[in-house]
Amino acid sequence: MKIDGTHYRSIWPHADGGWVEIIDQTRLPYEFGVLPLSAMEDAAHAIRVMQVRGAPLIGATAAYGMALAMRADPSDANLHEALQVLGATRPTAVNLRWALEGMRGLLAPLPPGRRAGAAWGRAGEICDEDVEINRSIGRNGLALIRKIAERKGGGRVNLLTHCNAGWLATVDWGTATAPVYLAHEEGIDIHVWVDETRPRNQGALTAWELGHHGVPHTYIADNAGGHLMQHGMVDLVITGTDRVAANGDVANKIGTYLKALAAHDNGVPFYVALPSPTIDWSVEKGADIPIEERGTDEVEKVQGRGADGALASVTVTPPGSPAANPAFDVTPARLVTGLITERGVAAATREGLRGLFPELAA
Ligand code: MRU
Repeated sequence: MKIDGTHYRSIWPHADGGWVEIIDQTRLPYEFGVLPLSAMEDAAHAIRVMQVRGAPLIGATAAYGMALAMRADPSDANLHEALQVLGATRPTAVNLRWALEGMRGLLAPLPPGRRAGAAWGRAGEICDEDVEINRSIGRNGLALIRKIAERKGGGRVNLLTHCNAGWLATVDWGTATAPVYLAHEEGIDIHVWVDETRPRNQGALTAWELGHHGVPHTYIADNAGGHLMQHGMVDLVITGTDRVAANGDVANKIGTYLKALAAHDNGVPFYVALPSPTIDWSVEKGADIPIEERGTDEVEKVQGRGADGALASVTVTPPGSPAANPAFDVTPARLVTGLITERGVAAATREGLRGLFPELAA
């Protein structure tokens, strides 16, 4: 999508072909900076410290990590090592495993001399496929937004989202935001309530990208959503997801479940947007999805820019109080109105998912 008129993806190979570039998301929304990834360990580090984040982008970065590993040393031993290192970076987003298993299947049977070229080519394809998938998710979600706009006689459509499932979390377009961008392009009066998403404030990334693309939005405290829904100020919720279980349960950023409960109580449609690589057919139910526990410093401290323009971190917890930081939660399928995928909107059920992706379910 666009940053002040210039089109960007969140990850791209450098024109010289020797390395990959990413937008360093740890510096956003305060500064825009591009970071080179020149070695597999750079890619692993970028995923681990969340310079890149969001399920689809984690998968794409891991794929390029494999390509960088094969450039350095295409041996069986290094193939195995790179799969291990990249696979251990973050536990919840299944797109990581999906990308790495795909790479293993492609590269292991090849002679070492052909692995680097094949890995580089496949990483590029994964990125291009992600863009096309998100565009399709956008078209399918747009149909839902259009209906609401028609029902409101062209009045403003208010959508609420949690975390960042925007173009920064994918290669381009985003999952939850793709329908928003298309609706905005079509001239629908759309406005987005952006949850701040403590503790890492991914909502600031969503606000940053919507703002730079010119989409009306309002940044709200995580606790505001229920109140807005009670007062008829939210027409629909769309979030992304890091892993969907075979029964339609959905893991996403911590706090998503509470938004789904509030939406259910207030009769607000709650949709989850996802590309098919985010479905984990091997996991029967959401309770079996591994939930990442992150460092407590993310909860104890708040980061921001001071009045002098400098970045600062302040502690908000009293000395000695323990903190906890579960990074994701599971929204039960019964609270999900529908799953917006590249093939259409599925019921959040085993049958709904299987109906749209019979070959993958098998
Ligand atoms: O911890 P993060 O920032 O990687 O978590 C991201 C999310 O939870 C997103 O909502 C999810 O990955 C969907 S991204 C299209």
